[in-house]
Amino acid sequence: MSKSRLYSGMQPSADSLQVGNYIGALLQWRDLQDAYDAFFSVVDLHALTQPNDPAELREKTRRTAAQYIAAGIEPSKSTLYVQSHVRAHAELAWILSTITGFGEASRMTQFKDKSARYGTDATNVGLFTYPVLMAADILLYQTDIVPVGDDQKQHVELTRDLAERFNSRYGTAFTVPMATIQQDTARIYDLQNPTAKMSKSAESDAGVLWLLDDPAVSAKKIMRAVTDNDGSVRYDRESKPGVSNLLTIYAALTGRQVPSIEDEYAGRGYGDFKKGLAEVVVAEFGPVRERALELLADPAELDRVLASNADRAAEVADATLADVYDKVGLLRRR
Ligand code: AMP
Ligand code: TRP
Repeated sequence: MSKSRLYSGMQPSADSLQVGNYIGALLQWRDLQDAYDAFFSVVDLHALTQPNDPAELREKTRRTAAQYIAAGIEPSKSTLYVQSHVRAHAELAWILSTITGFGEASRMTQFKDKSARYGTDATNVGLFTYPVLMAADILLYQTDIVPVGDDQKQHVELTRDLAERFNSRYGTAFTVPMATIQQDTARIYDLQNPTAKMSKSAESDAGVLWLLDDPAVSAKKIMRAVTDNDGSVRYDRESKPGVSNLLTIYAALTGRQVPSIEDEYAGRGYGDFKKGLAEVVVAEFGPVRERALELLADPAELDRVLASNADRAAEVADATLADVYDKVGLLRRR
């Protein structure tokens, strides 16, 4: 029996990914790539909805791809590619936009939040149609499951609605995908502000652990992480958000259960616990960082890998797009 298809992606929005991306996305992707026929993209077209310097965008795109590979996504096993390398994405997005309701798109909470924050004059139309492009990403590959964070659930719901609408209006062209939402335990918070999600766009750098940082810098950030006055290493998300977050990171990186870590540090201070976690982080990120820097030192080889994976992706995507063009009645070019 053939494997189910999986699709996910991340924007190349920073030079380095942060530990939340690593634990919340990459580690899960890595673990899923054997059981599924997996496609992972660096969604550079989506990144254009944010102000970008062209040279920096190119660099961030390579860096993001290198970190996928360094974290264990194998480009010989999974199809790891850059979204803009496969033209069908932008083309299918156009077709899907013609069956998306204006009101329907207006209800997307991520767009509402962002346009409210920046004002409609500073908001581009690309940001408004962003979820339609995401639907195109997913539907081109006849995707069964889409592992994403909670914040993307509504976009996958829209994708399902569009797939069903297209299928019933024009005949079946798409698999209707399902979101698999990552577990809450995998949510990582800012080290300085442990009630806010750790994010690439955090205002202060002190609370963010970057995958490509010098490990000594990450160790220092952990030693300075906000805790509390209670003094016991115990998981309690409500009243001890700082310590709980450190426990989550510790457990995710070691594959251990939180209670076993609590036991190990029972009766010892936060200093010991933080030192222990710093060692774990250095041991985990050190090799990932080295591998990523190695890959980035040979951009021609990295580009070659991405190109051959894009070829593989285009084969699947082009077949879906051709079927869609036929079904909606576009005249075939002979
Ligand atoms: P973003 O950088 O927000 O585009 O997120 C890319 C991926 O990383 C998505 O799958 C997110 O759910 C995941 N992610 C980002 N930040 C965190 C976090 N603090 N904790 C857990 N997962 C995260
Ligand atoms: N919008 C997603 C995010 O910000 C990234 C993304 C784009 C994506 N296309 C996708 C995720 C397709 C899953 C499937 O995290």
